[in-house]
Amino acid sequence: MDAQFWHDRWASNEIGFHKSDANPLLVQYFDKLSLAKESRVFLPLCGKTLDIGWLLSRGCRVAGAELSAVAIKQLFADLGVTPSITKVGALDHYHAPQLHLFVGDFFHVTPTLLGQVDAVYDRAAIVALPRDMRARYATHLMTLTAHAPQLLISFEYDQQVMEGPPFSVTTEEIQQHYSKRYDISILTNLDVPGGLKGRCPATERVYVLRAGRP
Ligand SMILES: C[S@@+](CC[C@H](N)C(=O)[O-])C[C@H]1O[C@@H](n2cnc3c(N)ncnc32)[C@H](O)[C@@H]1O
Repeated sequence: MDAQFWHDRWASNEIGFHKSDANPLLVQYFDKLSLAKESRVFLPLCGKTLDIGWLLSRGCRVAGAELSAVAIKQLFADLGVTPSITKVGALDHYHAPQLHLFVGDFFHVTPTLLGQVDAVYDRAAIVALPRDMRARYATHLMTLTAHAPQLLISFEYDQQVMEGPPFSVTTEEIQQHYSKRYDISILTNLDVPGGLKGRCPATERVYVLRAGRP
């Protein structure tokens, strides 16, 4: 899945993953992260999700990374906020009070650029990446966030029936990436109504990951 694939999706507005409301699973399970007020939440591969507005409305500070400037411009427009934009190496940094979004490749974000992170919210991020990129994604995410707790929402389905994205990411794979550093709990398993893209029976799974082992 190269960058052009995603730029084309944004250019042609083929963004079926984008939801018109805050994700009900975030709303239901956010408190499982046990965050203090004004905590800073990082959303890797954030698109223009309305979850950012929801987190801001809860008093969180928010950071994100997203390839597409189209997405981030729309996100600020939807929030009714005008960002300041600065260039930081290969990335553009769009910022406003409580909100810092890095536009460019997630793998170019560094811990110094990102700053402190109290929690990660991964919705449609790890599942957006093909198998051969996911270990690198998980490792980079842990480095960026110093093993901050995560709320992670994934899909699991028969990858023979349908191609991703979203890709099927099994619980076993989540454990492979994260169990060395996190205690992993499944909060819920939900059948996707009508199947994924109306084609393929699938389970949506919500995890909370809490740093356990050093
Ligand atoms: C499936 S969408 C999910 C967006 C968002 N998390 C949501 O829930 O609506 C995946 C997003 O990841 C972005 N993306 C893909 N590869 C990326 C990368 N290497 N760095 C930053 N963003 C990336 C795409 O542009 C796309 O907006």
